[in-house]
Amino acid sequence: MSHPGLSLSTERAGALHHAFERVLGAWNEFDHAREHETEISPQLHKLLESPLPDTGMDVTGVIDQAADILDASLAQSRPRYFAFIGSSGLEVGALADLLAATYDTNLAVDARAATALEWQAVTWLASFLGFPAQTGNFTSGGTLSNITALASARERALPGSRSTGLAGARPTLYCSREAHYSITRAAEVLGIGSNFVRAIEIDGERRMRADRTREALARDLAEGYSPVAIIATAGTTLTGAIDPLDELARVAREFNVWLHVDGAYGLPAAAVDARRALFTGLEEADSVTVDCHKWMFVPKACSAVLVKDLGSLARTFSHDEAYMPHEGEHYNAVDITLEYSRPLRALKLWMAFAVHGASAVREAVGINCDQAQMLYDWARVRPHFETLTNRPQLSIVPFRVVPTGCPDPDAHTSELCARLQFDGRVYVSPATIDGEIWLRPCFTNFRTTASDVQALLDVADELGRECSTLHG
Ligand SMILES: Cc1ncc(COP(=O)(O)O)c(C=O)c1O
Repeated sequence: MSHPGLSLSTERAGALHHAFERVLGAWNEFDHAREHETEISPQLHKLLESPLPDTGMDVTGVIDQAADILDASLAQSRPRYFAFIGSSGLEVGALADLLAATYDTNLAVDARAATALEWQAVTWLASFLGFPAQTGNFTSGGTLSNITALASARERALPGSRSTGLAGARPTLYCSREAHYSITRAAEVLGIGSNFVRAIEIDGERRMRADRTREALARDLAEGYSPVAIIATAGTTLTGAIDPLDELARVAREFNVWLHVDGAYGLPAAAVDARRALFTGLEEADSVTVDCHKWMFVPKACSAVLVKDLGSLARTFSHDEAYMPHEGEHYNAVDITLEYSRPLRALKLWMAFAVHGASAVREAVGINCDQAQMLYDWARVRPHFETLTNRPQLSIVPFRVVPTGCPDPDAHTSELCARLQFDGRVYVSPATIDGEIWLRPCFTNFRTTASDVQALLDVADELGRECSTLHG
């Protein structure tokens, strides 16, 4: 008999029904923009400061408390959340998480059908992106996916280093100076050292320069370094620039160096016909990262690392321990992953493809790209709005509002951003580009519409006029 105190027993149906009502309410609300963010009420403050309860309370009341807390939190699912790189909490993804957590499958070792599903999801994803992966796995995020891929690259460049350590070797990495910091993080945790990440210059479109990469590699080799990998970013976090994958692939081939594509944000756009040309050369990479919890709309955490050579992950990660049964026809997940216990993260992507079909996902990504072009065009014709010179390559569109005579555009933009965040009608984050402060909206939500794009400009215009930087 199960422990009576930890089962919902007779309350099960009521609890599910109540949770269902709250989820349905949230989904219906996400269809439209909110006029203002909810504030943390005094009751919520009190609740969030309460001590550990020794005895429990009614489950429906606790579901309400949890839902109220979430309702007073920033939610990326809302259509006017434009900050950082958001996502959308895809509805079937949330259902998948409920199912996955209910069965609480562990993908550390062979979990039978769930393991087969993860393999299938890797295959579907590779086919969606047009990348010829032989293997891969789902991780908690782009950071972990990048570390996983670069660990394999290190083992290929310095065979046996997972056992011997790096004693004597001088490994190096090459990436754009605007690559995500997770590449530096990978260098730190893989023993390469952040000082040995070569931050390569960018061109006028903010793309990593292949000629400078070639020069850096040649210089390092002449000085006795061991190049481990070139990391091309397919959609930089700052502006959405896509490094020239084909040119970098050529350099990687010349020097026999691993090519990793960090497409955590931008890679889903490779599935969109109108954008595919930007990803020419993708198929030549040894590994790619893509975050399904960004621009494939499913809830966090769901990233994937896809790899061309089946053996490369196994050579890096495989372990045989007395408590680890090796069964099933494939490698165990533990042989090809950085983690041990792992939830079934693949289910939400699998269900998204199964319910909506790849074409709907592709279309939604394409619409976000179109919205970026809209914002760019609309901002350029508004008085006092400034954009970068180049059109957006993906869905990030930095802009500023600098009224005539504005004494300090950076202070003005910072204040405007703070006002926008406080106001809550639209939510946007700032970024520093070439030493200047910009608003940096990003479109990665399938709920966002053209009127939300318009609202971003209207509200920025309205609040910009109220900034103290203009009125002293
Ligand atoms: C290009 C790029 N790589 C890696 C990451 C890290 O992804 P995560 O936050 O899922 O760890 C990000 C996050 O924004 C990113 O934009």
